[in-house]
Amino acid sequence: MVRLFIDNKEIEAEAGTPLLQVCLSNDIYVPNLCYLEGTKPQASCRLCFVEIEGEDRPVTSCTVEVRDNMVVKTDTEAVRRLQRTALRFLLSTHHVKCKECPANKKCELQRLAKFLKVGLRPKNLDRHLKETETDKSHPVFNYYPNRCILCGRCIHACKREHGKALLTFAKRGIDTVISFYGEEDMSRLPGEKCIACVEVCPVKAITLK
Ligand code: SF4
Ligand code: SF4
Ligand code: FES
Repeated sequence: MVRLFIDNKEIEAEAGTPLLQVCLSNDIYVPNLCYLEGTKPQASCRLCFVEIEGEDRPVTSCTVEVRDNMVVKTDTEAVRRLQRTALRFLLSTHHVKCKECPANKKCELQRLAKFLKVGLRPKNLDRHLKETETDKSHPVFNYYPNRCILCGRCIHACKREHGKALLTFAKRGIDTVISFYGEEDMSRLPGEKCIACVEVCPVKAITLK
């Protein structure tokens, strides 16, 4: 076990645990979207910044393991500025239609925006939406490219369940989307239909048909 201080609170944790996990387990909310417990952190959402004493600049807490005598601050001006920038970036490719969205009121993006006091439709934000609103090509799932925040949790959850992922990132840059490998791969899954990807998606960008 190690002993550390987060926002002046003394905390004991298992050595090697990701700092983000320790914060969340101790009711200290750090904005995050791409972290998935039990999988290798991808650090793609750039939201979970914290300041650690001795470090020059804020670091992503999902990629740092706790160590003895660490002193952490989760609520500094620099941290909030970086988090708001990351959120605005995500919103620039997100089609906000909460009333029609199955994630409404259970949505991580809504929670984050409220926490960071950023509107879901910030002024002066250039939006880059994709042409396809709904991809219905998969026999089991629908995918909503303009809702997807490309956190990658679906891919990592799938890999965690089956040893290999049956979906992946496709295309590049602002055209990046999630793509399924196809029905053939699905039919090789053991037992009932697996919906791990649906369950971990923070914005319901993958739904069951
Ligand atoms: S994913 Fe969240 S923020 Fe986006 S439309 Fe749905 S409920 Fe609204
Ligand atoms: S479909 Fe959902 S879980 Fe997968 S990358 Fe998009 S937002 Fe993340
Ligand atoms: S949760 Fe750490 S970068 Fe996304």
